[in-house]
Amino acid sequence: MLELLRAHAVRHRDLRAMVGSDHARATALCIEIGGLWLDFSKQPLTTALLDDLAIAADAQHLRGALDDLFAGAIVNPSEQRAALHPLLRASEAPPHLLAQHTAMHAARVEMAALAERLAERGVETLVNLGIGGSDLGPKLAYEALRSHRIDGRQLRFVANVDGAALEAALGGLDPARCAFVLASKSFGTQETRMNAVSAMRWLQEHGLSSAAISERMVALTSKPEAARAFGIRDDSILTFDEAIGGRYSLWSAIGFPLVFAFGPERFAALLDGAACIDRHVRSAPWQRNAPFLMAIVELLHRVGYGYPAQAVVAYDERLARLPEYLQQLVMESNGKSIGVDGRQLSVPAAPVIWGGVGTSVQHAFFQALHQGTDVVPVTFVAARLADHRFADHHPALLANLAAQSAALLRGRSFDEALAQESTRDTAAVARAQQRVFGGNRPSSTLLMERLTPHALGSLIALYEHQVFLTGRLLGINSFDQWGVELGKELCGELLPLLTDADQPLPPHLDAGTLAMLRRLRSVSG
Ligand code: F6P
Repeated sequence: MLELLRAHAVRHRDLRAMVGSDHARATALCIEIGGLWLDFSKQPLTTALLDDLAIAADAQHLRGALDDLFAGAIVNPSEQRAALHPLLRASEAPPHLLAQHTAMHAARVEMAALAERLAERGVETLVNLGIGGSDLGPKLAYEALRSHRIDGRQLRFVANVDGAALEAALGGLDPARCAFVLASKSFGTQETRMNAVSAMRWLQEHGLSSAAISERMVALTSKPEAARAFGIRDDSILTFDEAIGGRYSLWSAIGFPLVFAFGPERFAALLDGAACIDRHVRSAPWQRNAPFLMAIVELLHRVGYGYPAQAVVAYDERLARLPEYLQQLVMESNGKSIGVDGRQLSVPAAPVIWGGVGTSVQHAFFQALHQGTDVVPVTFVAARLADHRFADHHPALLANLAAQSAALLRGRSFDEALAQESTRDTAAVARAQQRVFGGNRPSSTLLMERLTPHALGSLIALYEHQVFLTGRLLGINSFDQWGVELGKELCGELLPLLTDADQPLPPHLDAGTLAMLRRLRSVSG
């Protein structure tokens, strides 16, 4: 498969010519699933390549890999775990997963009941204390779907251990009308535990009794015993299966704040949207399989053309959090250089994912996308229909998206640039040269009909399956994250050295770190 992509990249360098006026190709490279329309026509794909890749995918047992995922087989070998996130949104389960599936449904009922209990106690604001997968998914969904909120309910999010984040979230908050959600799969994460302790202290400082405080603390976790030991009441602990990875946990109890803010029906619609993609990825032929094509496009750019980064630009202010959500999903899942077999990968893996919101970023980093020395493939994301009252803005927004995607492809030749000059002197030629756009820069577009809970669920699930398929094709375990451990361990060693300036600095630390610690100590001391 990777060899096919490399060979294809060598032969296909003129994207503009490939797209040209080939309407049949453009149609073949657009896919519709439910209300989602995915346009890969401005990618260096050919229908012949897709046919070859379909054969290669079967030869590499990619269907079997998906079957394993959906059957709850061990797809995370380094932790000996399944990855059960698709089961959370499945309407039925195979017999051997029935117990887990029933528990997941029961958990959803509990989530709805707890949300109502909190509302009955007068809670209007939930503050989610969680980081990584225990923050990014709920935050993305909340900001994207804010207009679907139940009147009078709102969420705030604190991820960072930086006290400024907690302070900002507590600003203007009425302690009697808020509750805190400790969202932590492991319940051992330093940032979340520290924020929770400080939040409890803040409630205490505002005169709340211990009983009132404990009524305001909820835990979402796979480690209920740790939540209990922390002091969370049994009826305020919502659990989820250990086999739900942090960055895939939006659909589990981690989505509780969304149930509170939007109600269980809208949360169910989010899950249904994801289930729609679950069915699609298993049943669509590879040539029309959206997550597969997304995986192929990523690999073609990374392995075939060697582009190190990929940008995601949402032409929708409500999706401002999408790039950071995808950073975790893609880069924590596939940002690895060792395969499941323990060997060094021979090809580059996850690209650097970055992005922002259009049109704003057109006036920031798009200069580099059009004329920079690196080619950065772009994924545009938008909704065809708007949900606000300024109707005339939406065509302007979408025209910008279409224009950027066309401009990236087309570019501008020297002759075209020179034609804009009134003279032909050296300065005019130099100016024209600087206005040349190479073009040939690829992009995809993911267009929703409207940004609804269902559409958002589908969008996220598309990426989840893309990541899984890409990981499989690279020979990576997409469900572990050993790379984040070392920093955590070192932090555990260094923190006491900062809080107690009398502790001798251990000589085994490198000279740079010792110099930094001396400086930090002198400043904090
Ligand atoms: O950054 C590592 C990580 O383990 C993520 O995978 C996870 O989403 C995040 O930390 C938070 O973990 P937890 O939910 O256990 O607090």
